[in-house]
Amino acid sequence: MNITQCRIIELPKIGDPRGNLTFIEGGRHIPFDIRRVYYLYDVPGGAERGGHAHKGLHQLIIAVAGSFDIHLDDGCGRKTIHMNRSYNGLYVCPMIWREMDNFSSGAVCMVLASEYYDETDYLRDYEDFIRTTKEAGR
Ligand code: TYD
Repeated sequence: MNITQCRIIELPKIGDPRGNLTFIEGGRHIPFDIRRVYYLYDVPGGAERGGHAHKGLHQLIIAVAGSFDIHLDDGCGRKTIHMNRSYNGLYVCPMIWREMDNFSSGAVCMVLASEYYDETDYLRDYEDFIRTTKEAGR
């Protein structure tokens, strides 16, 4: 898996003078079925989240409110994406190291995930992550 597979997916947006509505259907708008949803909120200014990769998990990350930056790294290349639209999701495939920072006040980061929470799916050490990407490339 590499960074070029990580992309912004524009989600459906139903505009209405009463307010906008966005919806997401697993397997239709995003390339996996949704097993779990979690969200980050009340993130203090200057805080950093993430700092890990997943061996098998697929995720869609959305700035439901406010904004933040996501830094992606596949062991070969890096890119940073500024998230600030409630109708855009960033698809992150397995084996991508991600870090998140620059959270605005009131930001809410919602994550749709393909699997239940499983700590054994995490790579939390960067050197370990790099070693694992090299082994997979052999
Ligand atoms: P972590 O994934 O490290 O947070 P982030 O990447 O946003 O910085 O998770 C933080 C803690 O929350 C960690 O102890 C594991 C726990 N957790 C769950 O119990 N269930 C979940 O679905 C998630 C995402 C985390």
